[in-house]
Amino acid sequence: MKRIKIETSFEVYDSIKELATPIQNLILKATEARKKAYAPYSKFLVGAALELENGQLIAGNNQENASYPSGLCAERTAIYYAGAEFPNQKIIRMAIVAGSTTNPTPKPIPPCGACRQALSEYEVKQNMPMELYFMGTSGQIAYSNSVENILPWIFDKTVL
Ligand code: THU
Repeated sequence: MKRIKIETSFEVYDSIKELATPIQNLILKATEARKKAYAPYSKFLVGAALELENGQLIAGNNQENASYPSGLCAERTAIYYAGAEFPNQKIIRMAIVAGSTTNPTPKPIPPCGACRQALSEYEVKQNMPMELYFMGTSGQIAYSNSVENILPWIFDKTVL
C-alpha cells in the first residue's frame, strides 16, 4: 500500500485594487454579466468572464429554466460560448462574480462541481493552466492558478 497525498492552496485578496488592471477589468466584466443573469427561481445571480489569449473578453451568466435542471451555470454558459466561437483561442483566465439578491453574499464563491469538470476539459484541451478569480457581490477575491488546483485527480480524456 502507498498513500498518495494531493495538496491544494489558493490566494485570497482583500480588495480588487490589489490585482493587476487586466484582472480588475475581467472582474468588472463578470460583475456586469451578473447583472444580466436570468435567475428568477434561485435569485442567485452569477456572472463569468473569460480573457482569451488574443485579449478578447467573453462573458456569460446563469440561465435558469422552469424545468430546473435544464438551466445552466454562468461558467459553462461562458466557456461553451468561447469553445463554440473561438475554438483555437486559449483561455488565460476566468473571473466569476456570484451572489444572491435576497441574502448577503460577501464571500468568494467557488464554481460548482459540474462547472469545475467542464472548465477542466478546456484546461486539458489547451494544455495550459487557466487562472481563476472568484468573489461574492463584495469583499474578498479568491485566486486559483489552475482548474486542476480546485479539482485534483480529474477525470479527463487520458482515462478513456
Ligand atoms: N450557479 C452558477 O451559475 N455557477 C455555479 O458555479 C454555481 C451555481 C447558478 C446555478 C443556479 O442558476 C444558481 O446559481 C443557484 O444554484
